[in-house]
Amino acid sequence: VVVVVATGAIWIATQTGRPTPPATGTVSFDDPLRIPPLADSLVIDGVRVFRLEAQSGATDFVSQGPTPTLGYNGTYLGPTLVAARGETVRVDVTNSLDADTTVHWHGMHLPAAMDGGPHSPIQPGATWHPEWTIDQPAATLWYHPHLHGETRAQVDAGLAGMFLLRDPDEAALALPRDYGVDDIPVIVQDRSFSSDGAFSGGLGMQFDGVLGDTVLVNGTPTPHLDVATERVRLRLLNGSSARMYDFTFADDRTFDLIATDGGLLEAPVPSTSIPLSPGERAEIVVTIASGERVALQSRAPDPALNAGAATFDVMQLRGADAPSPSPEVAPVLAELPAPDAAHSVTERSFVMSGHNINDRQMDMSRVDFTVNVDTSEVWTVRNENPLPHSFHVHDTQFRVLTIDGAAPPPRLAGWKDTIALEKDRVYRLLVTFDDYADPTTPYMYHCHLLWHEDQGMMGQFLVVEPGQQPALTTTEGETD
Ligand code: C2O
Ligand code: CU
Ligand code: CU
Repeated sequence: VVVVVATGAIWIATQTGRPTPPATGTVSFDDPLRIPPLADSLVIDGVRVFRLEAQSGATDFVSQGPTPTLGYNGTYLGPTLVAARGETVRVDVTNSLDADTTVHWHGMHLPAAMDGGPHSPIQPGATWHPEWTIDQPAATLWYHPHLHGETRAQVDAGLAGMFLLRDPDEAALALPRDYGVDDIPVIVQDRSFSSDGAFSGGLGMQFDGVLGDTVLVNGTPTPHLDVATERVRLRLLNGSSARMYDFTFADDRTFDLIATDGGLLEAPVPSTSIPLSPGERAEIVVTIASGERVALQSRAPDPALNAGAATFDVMQLRGADAPSPSPEVAPVLAELPAPDAAHSVTERSFVMSGHNINDRQMDMSRVDFTVNVDTSEVWTVRNENPLPHSFHVHDTQFRVLTIDGAAPPPRLAGWKDTIALEKDRVYRLLVTFDDYADPTTPYMYHCHLLWHEDQGMMGQFLVVEPGQQPALTTTEGETD
């Protein structure tokens, strides 16, 4: 029995009745991993233009029958967008749903009016045309709706996709990067199904949101991936709305952690596990021997996490009999500036508790604070609850200065936009907001457990020129 005391409310419930994927050894990995298609694009007047259409449909996951789903340019999830640093991109987003939606580019540095937050709804039948220039390192980003109060429902129904950024420095490194061959998107979600095949909500709304008993990877139930090369790069995205994962291989093999949310680490970090909370990404390179089969699993040694007590299977890698050679992973990956708080102009603190941040719930008409453009700040974040929360900030990639006064572990030492918060630990983050001042459109910070976000565990800030008066407006995004 878990007892949670949070801002006046006492929640009591058992964790034991909650949906959990079956323990390892019970799934047969029959389905081949679906690889999301690369999005088509056209370069028009120097602008790379993509097209996304949010639509409803039905998808076959389970034998009970087709599942009503949402997707972009298809029935579930969306295509993978790829763009290079320095390119100007535009995405023409058409809403063919019968409800409002937004599309947010998670991890992207871009003007607030292009960010796709809750102030930029796209009405049914409308098309939104965000355009910006990619100005950040190669990374695994993603996109998903952000309509206030509806984010969990729309993401859980299938609206999400990957957005990969390339740059010349990354391109020069010895790393697998052949999309769908040795460079594989791995979008991990958990779902439950009712007897007619529909997604079912399950228990748990009083805690952290919906947990499922079935693991989907790119929309494929516990699949296998045939690997034709000696090494494979997996771009792991925790695309679940609530579940925490701790990814590991069945034989505890060591892999190289090469990148986190916002790009490459300084050097590969030999690792046997990588925990990811909803919204976080990690890129790993794993070596597969000829003909072998090994399961990627999630284990939950910490019962305070909601991953379930058991270790469960996520997908299986199947090595080819005669794999083609892969280069050794480059020993040096990127130059990261040492995070230096000396130039921080402000400190702010954020206490995550219940469904509140600093005892407040999201109010679309309230600006929680303003930040001066082209400055850095130190943000201190603490989770008061034994249940998981995470912290995500729009527009920026931050650095972890310290956790409880100590340097972060290597897996948290690179570029991050989302971080899991262990109870009562003090996370000091160095956060920088460059380039884009806009006194009218706010950016968001929030818990990325989507049920918490929908319940109001979110706030909004404006990035302004020094002295500029905030003038928050809630208007339709520029659509036609
Ligand atoms: Cu991935 Cu504010 O969201
Ligand atoms: Cu985001
Ligand atoms: Cu939370």
